[in-house]
Amino acid sequence: MANPTILIVNGPNLNMLGKRQPEVYGSETLADIETLCHGHGAAIGLDVEFRQSNHEGDLVDWIQGARGRVAGIILNAGAYTHTSVAILDALLAAEVVCVEVHLSNIHQREEFRHHSFVSKAAKGMICGFGSHGYILALDALARLIRGS
Ligand code: DQA
Repeated sequence: MANPTILIVNGPNLNMLGKRQPEVYGSETLADIETLCHGHGAAIGLDVEFRQSNHEGDLVDWIQGARGRVAGIILNAGAYTHTSVAILDALLAAEVVCVEVHLSNIHQREEFRHHSFVSKAAKGMICGFGSHGYILALDALARLIRGS
């Protein structure tokens, strides 16, 4: 049987990882994180689709397109986390289990980062573990999907 597919969606400015505020986000690039996710996915029997856009509508389209097609979503919506009702609505409409991820611990940062619209539609949220958060999210989804 084919492996379940997990869609990993990354929002604005995450294409700048490696160069962007390394003291906050670390030195790994998004390509490094993509390689990590494909490797770990393969090791635990999940196929990974990895995407990034700076445009809110792309994130909405990809989340809508996940409905009935993928087994789970990992979402780091970047700054749209704190602003986007449209992304929340897309997640609610998609009815696909979602794990929210942030590289940094958003609760240790500015107050405007403490609220997440995404959390309302997420099974859970992982923040503060850098790129390892994506691995933790893949493990969480594997467990949820297999019901173990
Ligand atoms: C982020 C946290 C957000 O507040 C910020 O706007 C980002 C990245 C993180 O991964 O820590 O772009 O989602």
